[in-house]
Amino acid sequence: MMSTRVLADFAIHGLASLVLFPNPYSGRGTKVCWDIEEKHDFSLASRNGKICWVGPADKFSDNIKLTSDAEVMNGNGLSGIPGFVDSHTHLVYAGDRSGEFELRVQGKKYLDILASGGGILKTVSCIRSLSEDEIFFESRERVWRMIETGVTTLEIKSGYGLDLENEMKMLRVIKRLGDELPIRVVPTFMGAHAVPVEYKERPDAFVKLICENWIPKVAESKLARFNDVFTENKAFNVDQSRAILEAGRKNGLIPKIHADEVNAIGGIDLAIEVGAISADHLLKTTSDGISKLVGSGVVPTLLPGTSTFLLETHHAPARAMIDAGLPVAIASDFNPGSCQFSSANLIQTLAMLQLKMSAAETLMAATLHAAHALMLGNETGSIEIGKNMDIVLLEASSYKQIGYRAGENLVHAVISKGIPVFSI
Ligand code: NIG
Ligand code: FE
Repeated sequence: MMSTRVLADFAIHGLASLVLFPNPYSGRGTKVCWDIEEKHDFSLASRNGKICWVGPADKFSDNIKLTSDAEVMNGNGLSGIPGFVDSHTHLVYAGDRSGEFELRVQGKKYLDILASGGGILKTVSCIRSLSEDEIFFESRERVWRMIETGVTTLEIKSGYGLDLENEMKMLRVIKRLGDELPIRVVPTFMGAHAVPVEYKERPDAFVKLICENWIPKVAESKLARFNDVFTENKAFNVDQSRAILEAGRKNGLIPKIHADEVNAIGGIDLAIEVGAISADHLLKTTSDGISKLVGSGVVPTLLPGTSTFLLETHHAPARAMIDAGLPVAIASDFNPGSCQFSSANLIQTLAMLQLKMSAAETLMAATLHAAHALMLGNETGSIEIGKNMDIVLLEASSYKQIGYRAGENLVHAVISKGIPVFSI
């Protein structure tokens, strides 16, 4: 009989558990389905970084022809899940804000610290004082720590430069992280993260500068894919945010928005109006906001690490969003001020404890839906033939252990585009 075996240069054979999403959300206008299938004694294979076969371990050798230099990992006792997609971070930063952390524990408010020149503005001074190399080396360590928790796709925002030179410096660091590290890094421009001291009395002039001068230059440099804005009291109001997101869109930068984090001032309506790919935070989003998001194509991205770190007692209304049929994503928001939790595992624990999401919802939100929040839903975020072989192997009998074993890192190995990039 003629062989119809699939050629593979990498495989994981005999996994105790493998997670498949049988009816994955595939983007705007399609139905969200939260089903998860957990297969046992399964194998999967890839060629040139793309998944080419998934099936029962006992069918592996009948179906797979390995190249002469192929690597085969033993999946015995391990669980395979899609690599995590962290679709919202401010990982490139410098300095320390532990003093502010203690002040907040004592009751001082995050936005008041910012308004008095601390918070984000403190990190801005640190970034401006350091060289590109210094910032790169600091940031590289942080990316490795995230890889070790299973992250294979990582979004990083600028926004601690707040002048063109330093915003570009941050974007170059982000590019270098993507070039030199073995996972995918997605860059976002966030010049509108806070109003810098130089423009404290003239915020509209700062907005104009971003729109007319910085955005065209950032777009031309090709150092950013998305354009984000902090729409909030004491940051940027709706009109200012609209101007920034529209200017970005005209220059080919896709809008994202920090909305309803501390106050609901109209970020949801704006996200829909400008066609943002995601609206992030959403702690204060009302049932009216949720209804508006349905069918809008905006991916609601919830950041339970931040609401916890900010000592909020009210968290984003994940249950109502899921019930409304929204493709809820979760991400870390890892940054020096409002969330120092970078572990993908811990963020999932918090999604379960604070947002009351199930283990299955949490996993899908941290992989497939987060990939959609970065417009990468066709490339990564689920184990499907044709997608990237971005896989995490856990030392656990089931993906359900991720959120439950909160204090442990269960990661045994991380595979990015068919290449093992970390193993214990
Ligand atoms: O998403 N809210 C604005 N930006 C970040 C915090 C950045 C910082 O405090 O350094 C956030 O929470
Ligand atoms: Fe953020």
